[in-house]
Amino acid sequence: MQSNLHVAIIMDGNGRWATGRGLPRIAGHSAGAETLRRIVEAAPDCGIGVLTVYAFSSDNWKRPRLEVEALMALLGCYLENETGRCLASGVKMSIIGRRDRLPESLRASIDRAEGETGQCHLLQLRLAIDYSARDAIVVASNRAASQCAAGAPITRESLEELLVESRPVDILIRTGGEQRLSDFLLWECAYAELIFTNRMWPDFSPFDLQRAIHQYAHRERRFGGIPQAPAESQEHWLR
Ligand code: IPE
Ligand code: IPE
Ligand code: MG
Repeated sequence: MQSNLHVAIIMDGNGRWATGRGLPRIAGHSAGAETLRRIVEAAPDCGIGVLTVYAFSSDNWKRPRLEVEALMALLGCYLENETGRCLASGVKMSIIGRRDRLPESLRASIDRAEGETGQCHLLQLRLAIDYSARDAIVVASNRAASQCAAGAPITRESLEELLVESRPVDILIRTGGEQRLSDFLLWECAYAELIFTNRMWPDFSPFDLQRAIHQYAHRERRFGGIPQAPAESQEHWLR
């Protein structure tokens, strides 16, 4: 199995999972945090080296205040509860997204999680919080514009370097049945294999993750080239 894959997950469907059971939406978010714990545990055995998960988008601030507050508290609890476990199992935690709008207590939990797990190497877990791919591209573009010599063009490479911790995504999984990116890793997903599942995030299991990796293994990534074929048959087509 290929190792060191970058898998990105849009963890969607918590609200519908809960309301379908007559529970408040936040119960779905709590169940979703449990799912994340199980998926992180299973990831290294699936050949995943980097796991980037969408926990809170910059557009999610539009949600009712009580849901936003509950989500912030839950993210803080997740970091507090998981830091020790991640440290013990070799998982490096980091956050992508804006930090300046997060509650002070959550920022403290982030600093602690990143500080304590910074030397771990088995798996890199990146939580996207207050994240917007469009904003990340705008920030990188502004940096590029100020760094480039006057009149020098911004190149694909220079922008990629300035996109904080950008790394191409191999597999993008979205749970919850929607088939859209919702402003997640737009640059990094340029050639990602997209896998959409109707499974709500709290029901997504390590087995579903394995199945997604299996699906990926049967896809042919061409990056704009032509199908891989034995040298002789390629010659035949070129004649
Ligand atoms: C994803 O689940 C979690 C966040 C966006 C924070 P949702 O809360 O979007 O769940 P649905 O899509 O409403 O079911
Ligand atoms: C995307 O889900 C954000 C996260 C999963 C954190 P949303 O539920 O916010 O996306 P839309 O509104 O359905 O596009
Ligand atoms: Mg949703």
